[in-house]
Amino acid sequence: MERKFIMDTSGKTITCRAAIAWKTGSTLAIEEVQVDPPKAREVRIKMISTGICGTDDHAVKGLLSINFPFIPGHEGAGIVESIGEGVSSVKPGDKVLTLAIPQCRECSSCLHPKGNFCEKQDVLPSSGLMLDKTSRFTCKGKKIYHSFRASTFTEYTVVPEIAVAKIDAAAPMDKVSIISCEVPTGYGAAVNSAKVTRGSTCVVFGLGGVGSAIVMGCKASGASRIIGVDINEEKFPRARALGVTDCLNPRNLKKPVQQVVMEMTRVGVDFAFEAIGLSDTMIAAWDSCHRSYGVCLMVGVASSNSQLSLNAPDIISGRTLKGVCLGDYKTRDCIPQLVTDYLQNKINIDPLITHQLPFDQLHKAFELYHAGKTIRCILLF
Ligand code: APR
Ligand code: ZN
Repeated sequence: MERKFIMDTSGKTITCRAAIAWKTGSTLAIEEVQVDPPKAREVRIKMISTGICGTDDHAVKGLLSINFPFIPGHEGAGIVESIGEGVSSVKPGDKVLTLAIPQCRECSSCLHPKGNFCEKQDVLPSSGLMLDKTSRFTCKGKKIYHSFRASTFTEYTVVPEIAVAKIDAAAPMDKVSIISCEVPTGYGAAVNSAKVTRGSTCVVFGLGGVGSAIVMGCKASGASRIIGVDINEEKFPRARALGVTDCLNPRNLKKPVQQVVMEMTRVGVDFAFEAIGLSDTMIAAWDSCHRSYGVCLMVGVASSNSQLSLNAPDIISGRTLKGVCLGDYKTRDCIPQLVTDYLQNKINIDPLITHQLPFDQLHKAFELYHAGKTIRCILLF
């Protein structure tokens, strides 16, 4: 008779491996950490996979407002290990995604039909603490901060119930972590937030993970022309395969890229997306839009305290400037549907995943990311 011995860890502190950013800009260190049991309305998750997103890199470099030392990572898929008191939306054994923007269903954003930037978010700025203002992580006797209500570069994490989405039990856990951030952020910005129209012209600044997902969304919406802008030409072949019709490297142009986009489209694009997080490319995206009816979506997360300066008189011409986070989706309500859509072949996230590596090869994964070789690299636990 086969007998399975499953250690019951609920209610106990778990010791496991996690990546810690000890101080600004230092290399991540894989350490042994203690993960406390979940308190009321919290969930402890055994991570299965996590993507490396540009925002994690910004955070580790200290470009965002965040407390060190912390455990990075927010794009995660895992299985509920245990739940705290009062948790009703998930149970141990459920497959879940972590949500960098929670959905509390009580705040002004959550109660508004259009709002998704829940007031319980911990990105802008990141306190790195749970809702009760304490942390669940300890390493070498030191308190370690969380990041973005997630912290997924760890074998176990604890998050508030409002930052967890239960997903289809058939979901392939080695892949769907990117549906926790990259896919809704990019694809959602195009299909849900901009509502890109059939036959329209688009420009996408940044052809990394998020930009590629935007391109997928523009293509799925029937855009007739998609201009892709990136300083790394290694990104161009894949971008073309996803639907980019014209590739531009601003460093090889004799004129500002927005001027080139204007000339290519004669009047400016219908939809412009910025997926880098730099003021200069945000301005270029804005200046690439049709003056009257163009819509410019800011998707990239800019570094803390950076400013955006636009030509003020030009504003009245009618263009729309919109910031968008996680595709404007109300996260717990909508993100599980993207997993189901993937399982039903309505969207294909596979081309967005270029690398999968075991968690202990985290440094190699970051090297590949910094060398511009990855679209998305997923770490597997
Ligand atoms: N001009 C054009 N392209 C640039 C520039 C620039 N000045 N600087 C960087 N890029 C390109 C990079 O070559 C890369 O292909 O932007 C792309 C960024 O992609 P990734 O590093 O893969 O980052 P990603 O995960 O896609 O996130 C992009 O969206 O969610 C936010 O915080 C995230 O701000 C980040 C952005
Ligand atoms: Zn809320």
